[in-house]
Amino acid sequence: MSAARSLLENSRMNVTEAILARRAVRAYAPRKVDDATLRSLLRAAVQAPSAMNRQPWLFSIVQDAARLRRYSDRAKAMLLVAMASDAKAAHYRDLLASPGFDIFYDATTLVVIGPGERGAYTDADCWLAAENLMLAACEAGLGSCCIGFAIPVLNTPEVKAELGLPASGVAVAPLILGYPAAAPPPVERAEPKIVSWSR
Ligand SMILES: Cc1cc2nc3c(=O)[nH]c(=O)nc-3n(C[C@H](O)[C@H](O)[C@H](O)COP(=O)(O)O)c2cc1C
Repeated sequence: MSAARSLLENSRMNVTEAILARRAVRAYAPRKVDDATLRSLLRAAVQAPSAMNRQPWLFSIVQDAARLRRYSDRAKAMLLVAMASDAKAAHYRDLLASPGFDIFYDATTLVVIGPGERGAYTDADCWLAAENLMLAACEAGLGSCCIGFAIPVLNTPEVKAELGLPASGVAVAPLILGYPAAAPPPVERAEPKIVSWSR
């Protein structure tokens, strides 16, 4: 059976249900995501479209709690320096300065998606793979959240090497995954702003 067919046969939500149910989850139970579940989510990720079907995505998975804590602490320090003179970032500075704040919200798994070499469309390709992964995670009862805060630390040479990324590679789309500790609150969306529609 092909990987795509086995994904289909296991599906319990339709696409619209998953799109509507997915929310950024910021509170996780300590339960680990097992390897089989993670592999099925990665198979969903690689079904994403990619420019010229280059499929540039590489996946790095971090489930080591000490390593996640180290990345979070370092990310917070880096972001505080970067935001030091930004008046609009006061709220984020307070959060980042708080010792109890974990940028990964105690999630048990971080998946970092990035290309081995950056090209014109590789960021788009990786984010499309990320969305597939998050929708499949939602269907599997898992929560997820993109963690843009992690991008600077994940692209330091030492962390890239730990992630298995080549020197030419880029950590583009970091996602946390895990079992939600509580149902995330609803998040409103504005109606689509259609600025032109030529007929
Ligand atoms: C590129 C990107 C980066 C994000 N970075 C963070 C982050 O660092 N921390 C966080 O808590 N949420 C982050 N988010 C999640 C957004 O805040 C969230 O998707 C948004 O508030 C809408 O909520 P929803 O996903 O529940 O609909 C990020 C989302 C995207 C798309």
